[in-house]
Amino acid sequence: MTGRFWESGQQYSGPRIDPATAAPDPFVQFHAWMSAAVEAGLPTPNAMTLATVDGRGRPAARVVLLKELDDRGFTFYTNYQSRKGQELAACGFASLVFFWEPMHRQIRIEGKVERVSAEESDAYFAARPRGSQLSACVSPQSQVVAERAVLESAIRQLEEELGQGAPPRPASWGGYRVLPDLFEFWQGQESRMHDRVQYRVGAAGWVRERLAP
Ligand SMILES: Cc1cc2nc3c(=O)[nH]c(=O)nc-3n(C[C@H](O)[C@H](O)[C@H](O)COP(=O)(O)O)c2cc1C
Repeated sequence: MTGRFWESGQQYSGPRIDPATAAPDPFVQFHAWMSAAVEAGLPTPNAMTLATVDGRGRPAARVVLLKELDDRGFTFYTNYQSRKGQELAACGFASLVFFWEPMHRQIRIEGKVERVSAEESDAYFAARPRGSQLSACVSPQSQVVAERAVLESAIRQLEEELGQGAPPRPASWGGYRVLPDLFEFWQGQESRMHDRVQYRVGAAGWVRERLAP
């Protein structure tokens, strides 16, 4: 199949963002944009692309859900032995991308990654629907499985073992927190003259600067 059927002549526009008027704290700026995305009713505004690299520098990316945000960083939950888990163990850095197409906005975040505490993972796991808990218990995420029936039968067996009991959080499942040292807020503008505001860590705290589009 050939062709460029995806070219739509898309024009971008939106409110201006400028280093002088953007929030001094990038977490505050993130909250402002996330609140606007939620208010606009975007589907799954907390979906973010997570990029990692393996020990040889080969990158991989996939979507995960932002589940918690505090002044330390951005938390998502996953399997520690998954491909992403192995790559985070090998490298320790990650990049996140939010793309809110209807608002012509992208946010990029980079930084070190740490595991959240066992208590935090326990609390989040306990709050999940039982079906999600069971899936996390039986799924060797990122490994090859012969067929879906293997996983479904593992769930049935676990349900029999547990009875009414709550599934325990597997040691291999929990949260990672990305601790940002770089943010970029991208606002699409007309004629591809987009606004880009980068925040990096300077000697006296966050430094804001404009990047060329
Ligand atoms: C909208 C969406 C949300 C997702 N959220 C998560 C998530 O929060 N955690 C997770 O482990 N995988 C999530 N996934 C699945 C991942 O994209 C990926 O398939 C999985 O984590 C395995 O990735 P890996 O093999 O690179 O480790 C999500 C996928 C989509 C499309």
